[in-house]
Amino acid sequence: MALNITEIKNNLFKRKNSGDIANSAQKSELKKSLRLFDLVVFGVGAIFGSGIFTIVGVAAAGANGNPGAGPALVLSMIIAVIACILSALCYCEFATMIPSAGSAYIYAYATMGEFIAWIVGWLLILEYIIGTIAVSIAWSGYLMQLLKGFEAILPAWVTNPPVWIISDFYTLSQKGSEAISQVPHLFGTIPFSINLPAILIVLTVAFFITRGTKQSSIITAIMVGIKIVIALLFIFTGIFYVNPQNWTPFAPNGIEGIFSGAFIIFFAYIGFDSIATVSEECKSPKKDLPLGIILSLCVCTLIYVLIAVVLTGIMPLDKIDLNAPVAYALRYIGQTKIAGLISFGALAAMTSVMLVMTIAGTRILYAMSRDNFLPPVFKTLSKRSNTPNILTWFIAGIIIVGIITTNLSVAADLCNLGTFASFVIVCSAIIILRKLQPDTPRPFKVPFFPLVPILGILICSGLMLISLKNGGMSSYLFLIYMIVGVAFYFAYGYKKIRQEEKNLK
Ligand code: ALA
Repeated sequence: MALNITEIKNNLFKRKNSGDIANSAQKSELKKSLRLFDLVVFGVGAIFGSGIFTIVGVAAAGANGNPGAGPALVLSMIIAVIACILSALCYCEFATMIPSAGSAYIYAYATMGEFIAWIVGWLLILEYIIGTIAVSIAWSGYLMQLLKGFEAILPAWVTNPPVWIISDFYTLSQKGSEAISQVPHLFGTIPFSINLPAILIVLTVAFFITRGTKQSSIITAIMVGIKIVIALLFIFTGIFYVNPQNWTPFAPNGIEGIFSGAFIIFFAYIGFDSIATVSEECKSPKKDLPLGIILSLCVCTLIYVLIAVVLTGIMPLDKIDLNAPVAYALRYIGQTKIAGLISFGALAAMTSVMLVMTIAGTRILYAMSRDNFLPPVFKTLSKRSNTPNILTWFIAGIIIVGIITTNLSVAADLCNLGTFASFVIVCSAIIILRKLQPDTPRPFKVPFFPLVPILGILICSGLMLISLKNGGMSSYLFLIYMIVGVAFYFAYGYKKIRQEEKNLK
């Protein structure tokens, strides 16, 4: 028995050799087609979306018991981006050392062993797949905003569909029994509500992904172009309506508001790490990956800060709309046509986020399946496009189930929790790997080591604790999710990996 426990312990901490990982990435069947420009487009595509178009309103004005940051939102954004940059630097050291589709999951495998690798992979599923649920729900909300702008020419069933077609059951149930009684009931007893626009956009995105990464990055590039133009349009239209009096008081809820704002707006930065998941598909990952990640974060932060300055300068805090704050701000100043364009741009922005996050999700699960944590069917590549298509449709299915059963804020909170936790592990892993493999060549090294990873650990775990404390429903779901993850590992991955080890002997 004692022997078994030692054996299990050894297996749980069994590490992957980083040289082997780099070799297997080199031999990878995934196409190597991405350059620096593609990576920055991919990064901005992944980062800039529902966070700045939807969640920015809550971060500024506050909601659901969270105090808003007010005009000090720019400070919240800076805190959030510092957390991201600290982790991004660690990601860069890893990504250039170990270019692999598995990203943080593989970094953990090389440093902390099999069990933590599984946990990180399981957390990344929260970030990419559950995050996509939140974005697709926000997408559906902006689509309805856009359609409402065409009320005069579109039929009423398009601009004002029944609530059960555009709402998830969770949101509907919060409206009370009266609202539930008005929706159709399956078998006459089970109330039924789906968010059809969100489901349709998920299926469309999955379709494009199965056409191949290069094709997806062309579509992402078009979307990124549209969203940058739309953001500049907002900034240069709104700036002429700024009333500096709206910027006082600068921080109406003090430090608490600024940190709560940082926690909420963090969602707007999620996605930069997905660049690391396509490292196997880069032409020269060592040079382009660090640059790609840092440049994407810089471009987004610049635009976010300008949007926050203009948004909080145009109108008083209590007038900020929480569902479509950026588009509404322009309506508020009488620029209705431009507001319509903004809604259109927001849809493009969110579509590209969904595209990139879903691709990232497939690449993580692909790597996990290659390592026998998941069934082999997930590593099947399509002969035509060389992409894991079965996996893509499987992920689309999970997202659709999520759209039907959860809501935007629960999904966004879960996504934040998963991301914070994986950032903490990546920052810790960089410290461990410097000790374990001090001589392995590192084309990019984290500056001010070990200060940078230590600060990354402190800030990300601090934000994670704030989230767990305020999270309510999402905190419980997070806990359940982690327990299911551990159970699945012991029931499947652990056994399968041991079996493969025996076969190799
Ligand atoms: N950062 C992504 C967004 O804001 C998740 O939509």
